[in-house]
Amino acid sequence: KMPILEQCYNLMDFEAVAKNVMKKTAWAYYSSGADDEITMRENHNAFHKIWFRPRILQDVEHIDTSTTMLGTKVDMPYYVTATALGKLGNPEGEVILTRGAKKHNVIQMIPTLASCSFDEICDAREGDQCQWLQLYVNKNRDITQRIVQHAEKRGCKGLFITVDAPQLGRREKDMRSKFSDVGSNVQSTGGDDVDRSQGAARAISSFIDPSLSWKDIPWFLSITKMPIILKGVQCVEDVIRAIESGVHGVVLSNHGGRQLDFARSGIEVLAEVMPVLRERGWQDRIEIYIDGGVRRATDIIKALCLGAKGVGIGRPFLYAMSAYGLPGVDRAMQLLRDEMEMNMRLIGARSVEELNPTLVDVRGLSMH
Ligand code: FNR
Repeated sequence: KMPILEQCYNLMDFEAVAKNVMKKTAWAYYSSGADDEITMRENHNAFHKIWFRPRILQDVEHIDTSTTMLGTKVDMPYYVTATALGKLGNPEGEVILTRGAKKHNVIQMIPTLASCSFDEICDAREGDQCQWLQLYVNKNRDITQRIVQHAEKRGCKGLFITVDAPQLGRREKDMRSKFSDVGSNVQSTGGDDVDRSQGAARAISSFIDPSLSWKDIPWFLSITKMPIILKGVQCVEDVIRAIESGVHGVVLSNHGGRQLDFARSGIEVLAEVMPVLRERGWQDRIEIYIDGGVRRATDIIKALCLGAKGVGIGRPFLYAMSAYGLPGVDRAMQLLRDEMEMNMRLIGARSVEELNPTLVDVRGLSMH
């Protein structure tokens, strides 16, 4: 029996409900990670290695959780990250996430492989609501250029190029649940040349260019004025290279544990990256985001203390949307907001600017 929405008290609760009510193939696609799913589990577990060093007597009556991301003011330091195939979980698809993001004034990243068309997701925007585009780079660069320039024309404020998926990871749960009608609108090759025996992910991703390289970055910078962010960077050497190549940001991410198993968690990589950047005085040259396993506001706070500008959240909103539609997404976002305010108060930080490395004890992370 399905619990009523008010019985969901945290983001994990939505996952439990979704598992029970979702179609098996959809659950398999959303919940799967690569290979043994070690990285997928580690993404969340890594946050448990960091403890707080709260400060007392800070006059925390008023708490401000707002910040800016790539120049856009948002009410909370997270964004709804790109997750493909929204209609697997809910017939209305990604536009539900657009509406939830509007209500809570956070940014939505639109996936290349959304179920709704790109224009439908833009049309669902209200007022000056901000959206970003997640880009899978097509072997045919003309197609990619058209997508990027169309997104810019439609008002997207950031281009997130996914760089951790030259080939789609083996997600065995997904492969076992033989996929039939994936219903993606964008670039899906469609028709008879789609191999559906390998699960949803592989069926729709054959257009992605594995030859993408650093040499392509100047071209991307030349075809758009949107800030460019590399999504899926996994070590400090590549963050430095990203800065040198002129991009505006990176997402330290392992694709929710769906690509390389035994990739490290984003928070672990962040702890590697920030001291090196600070040593060079480069910490303000780009914006650094992380995603993967963020389920509690304390996870967000830890990332911000270590120097992230914000975090991406994926599966929890998919599960909330699949289980309860827009009211589910609304409640998940409200729970996060309540958790954020309470925990910032308990830590003694009145604003996002006050979150800093002295508020966390990272000796449990393997880097330290
Ligand atoms: C993803 N992710 C993803 N990333 C991307 O760049 N393009 C994509 O099409 C997708 N699709 C996708 C589908 C599903 C079902 C999931 C769960 C994830 C990865 C996503 O952007 C993000 O990196 C992770 O989801 C973050 O981890 P959590 O929050 O899901 O733990």
